[in-house]
Amino acid sequence: MASRLAATLHQRLPILAGVCTASVAFTVDSVPRFSKSLKKLKGKRRVVPRRLLLGLGASFWAQFVSMSGSGGIGGKFLVASARQQGASSPVEQILKNVEWPEQFPFKEEDFQRFDETPDSIFYEGPRFVTHIDDQAIAALTKYYSKVFPPSNTAGVSILDMCSSWVSHFPAGYKQDRVVGLGMNEEELKRNPVLTEHVVQDLNVNPKLPFEDNSFDVITNVVSVDYLTKPIDVFKEMCRILKPGGLAIMSFSNRCFWTKAISIWTSTGDADHALIVGSYFHYAGGFEPPQAVDISPNPGRSDPMYIVYSRKLSTA
Ligand SMILES: C[S@@+](CC[C@H](N)C(=O)[O-])C[C@H]1O[C@@H](n2cnc3c(N)ncnc32)[C@H](O)[C@@H]1O
Repeated sequence: MASRLAATLHQRLPILAGVCTASVAFTVDSVPRFSKSLKKLKGKRRVVPRRLLLGLGASFWAQFVSMSGSGGIGGKFLVASARQQGASSPVEQILKNVEWPEQFPFKEEDFQRFDETPDSIFYEGPRFVTHIDDQAIAALTKYYSKVFPPSNTAGVSILDMCSSWVSHFPAGYKQDRVVGLGMNEEELKRNPVLTEHVVQDLNVNPKLPFEDNSFDVITNVVSVDYLTKPIDVFKEMCRILKPGGLAIMSFSNRCFWTKAISIWTSTGDADHALIVGSYFHYAGGFEPPQAVDISPNPGRSDPMYIVYSRKLSTA
């Protein structure tokens, strides 16, 4: 089994590297800004050798998949985003019956990024763009409308982590308290659903500036892959969620690849669900995480995946 998985991973590496490179152009706006910031940073940047990181990710992954007993999926998740409509989604399968290793299986280098300069530089200018296509946004909004507390429910508080000028909440959705936490003040100020916002670099300071047991829902859209201290952040999420509170991490197959962690850029969609699931598991205090594939039109629009969990009522 282990050697079959190793062979599968070996075959997929060039494909995965290609996916990540293509993802650089995921917003029209990001390309000029991206090259501008890189020019500005020339000389200061710590360049992490990409091939080495890909190799580390792959060898780790072959080991983890065989340890976790998830190997039955085999190479299917290579084609996750191109699956036919109606076919079962590898992303939805991957968190079923996982046997997690006793210790958090990732190493420090798995959280390195190609661009290790401060995130405040990368995000200093606002980007009034959307990072996934309209169909993926509509799928996410529809999902939120099913799982969010009804609009205008007294006492409900929501935190949108890694927020910007849009949160993709249902039209007209309101609560007394909707907090956005992100890196760019101008973007956050323009977000119409937020009642307050905080600018904070979670990779510098993962401590969330909120009281224990104060939020009903935490969302994070297409940004969990930028967290370099995810376990610290997920522990904090658990602390600030009310018992039974819901954390919804959503992602697609696009990213600012220079800022995404190496274990993300060297793996595929179903692996990403397993990675996010592992954050919930190893942070502790959460129910077993679950994955949902809400891709609206597989192969034709951006895929959209959710990994969610609730804070244990006893935590
Ligand atoms: C790809 S954008 C997604 C924005 C928004 N969630 C959306 O769906 O359009 C990535 C977001 O992650 C936030 N972010 C990236 N690195 C961060 C960090 N170190 N700490 C806090 N937020 C971060 C940025 O502010 C940015 O808004």
